[in-house]
Amino acid sequence: MLVRLIYKSRLKESVGWADVVNIASNARGKNESLNITGMLIMNGAGVLQVLEGESGAVNDLYGRICADERHGNLQLISFGALGERHFGRWKMKEVNLQRMKGDFRDVVASLLIKDEQGNLTLPSDFERAYALLAFIDTITSAR
Ligand SMILES: Cc1cc2nc3c(=O)[nH]c(=O)nc-3n(C[C@H](O)[C@H](O)[C@H](O)COP(=O)(O)O)c2cc1C
Repeated sequence: MLVRLIYKSRLKESVGWADVVNIASNARGKNESLNITGMLIMNGAGVLQVLEGESGAVNDLYGRICADERHGNLQLISFGALGERHFGRWKMKEVNLQRMKGDFRDVVASLLIKDEQGNLTLPSDFERAYALLAFIDTITSAR
């Protein structure tokens, strides 16, 4: 059964964008062999990741990711069966929202959530998380 898993996390302070680029680069080989596809979005210390693939493979990978000490706090947003992949183009595509330019930046900002300090943070609910991932997917493949 094909499934999609989306989670959100806050990475430990010592983990930066260069590390995420490395994580995604290493992940691509592994994900390809597991037939897993997806995206990894970073916003400050926050990350939002979508994994699509066979249920067993996605579950096992999520277990490994949960055990990864680079995560501060990890929060499952959704897990469920799907008919076909939406993020099938990427073995794992990393995107830094803080490096987004022009009009895209404004649309992305409208899909983020304002926290108590007024900072824009990644959404925790499925609808907005999926909308954000789908938007990033669209503009990323357009390039
Ligand atoms: C934010 C984040 C996303 C990750 N995404 C993946 C991924 O898509 N695929 C993958 O194989 N490892 C990913 N990893 C790395 C895994 O947590 C783990 O380090 C890796 O699978 C190696 O596990 P192993 O040492 O048990 O083989 C990610 C790690 C982090 C912190």
